[in-house]
Amino acid sequence: MLDFTKVMSAAVLAATTAGAAMAQESRTFEVSLPLGPESHQAVGVHKFGEELERLSEGRLTIRPQYDNALGAEREVVEGMGFGLIDMGITSTGPMGGFVNDFLLFDLPYIFTTPEAAYGFLDGEHGDALAAKLESEAGVKILGWMENGFRHNTNNVRPLNGPEDLAGIRHRTQESRVQVDTWTALGANASPMAWTEVFTALQQGVMDSQENPVPTIYDVKFYDVQRYLNLTKHVYSPAPLMMGAQLFNSLSPEDQALVMEAAAIAVPVQREASQRMEQELIDELERLGMTVTRPDLEPFRERVQPVIEQWKDTVGAELVEAAQASGS
Ligand code: MLT
Repeated sequence: MLDFTKVMSAAVLAATTAGAAMAQESRTFEVSLPLGPESHQAVGVHKFGEELERLSEGRLTIRPQYDNALGAEREVVEGMGFGLIDMGITSTGPMGGFVNDFLLFDLPYIFTTPEAAYGFLDGEHGDALAAKLESEAGVKILGWMENGFRHNTNNVRPLNGPEDLAGIRHRTQESRVQVDTWTALGANASPMAWTEVFTALQQGVMDSQENPVPTIYDVKFYDVQRYLNLTKHVYSPAPLMMGAQLFNSLSPEDQALVMEAAAIAVPVQREASQRMEQELIDELERLGMTVTRPDLEPFRERVQPVIEQWKDTVGAELVEAAQASGS
């Protein structure tokens, strides 16, 4: 006759052993970055990798894939959702195509300081946005790293006001809100994937683009753009992400290590990003760019109708909470 107690103990032992083996699994995650190994994005990804390796005693490591080697940003987000790409850091530009709430980060002049954005992202609103991306796109946000405040560059003229954008062919990210914003400002705006921007500027297909200072430096836009205009029109997060299926397949212990490594890396990345923003403006000037600091009020005024037009789609409460985050 079967000894029920013995069978149960064997089953518990087998499950425990399997669980322990799972917790001990070794794994290398491929991480996609739109920028290079010296970029502000890379500072965060490297710190995450270093901490993950330390916390897991060498079992969990990362392999960064720089400069869109795994695909353009939208493809990378889709790839993580489908379980084809392990991890990535990207701007939020393409995410409004997955979840309307993410269009918030395309609305101009909503966040006024990095601290306001951090307070918003590190609290209930950031958590709610992350939960929506996970349920609607199958992608888990591990931490809100950043690209930083975005500024215009162009090859035509300095921008002292929005009227100086007249006739300029301006590249936006793949976001309807961004196209509307730059159209309202007076440019001829069209969307284009990040992977094509440098060549488009080099060949004169586009005159203008916008990105944070560390990005402008990392991809050497100073070789193909003459004017840097500090328009500071949006704060651009760069969440560090993992495919939700992959995350959920990890043991609870390893999930906790991944989250802990990300929590340590986020402030390190933000600090590097802010420092690089300060230091690299002078460097870009030294490399030949003409830096202009326009009065931002006329830019703000021109884009108010865009905020009104998109507010309900994004979620009026979310927009108002973000606007209030600096006060
Ligand atoms: C873009 O302009 O498409 C992005 O800001 C690129 C990036 O994430 O670095």
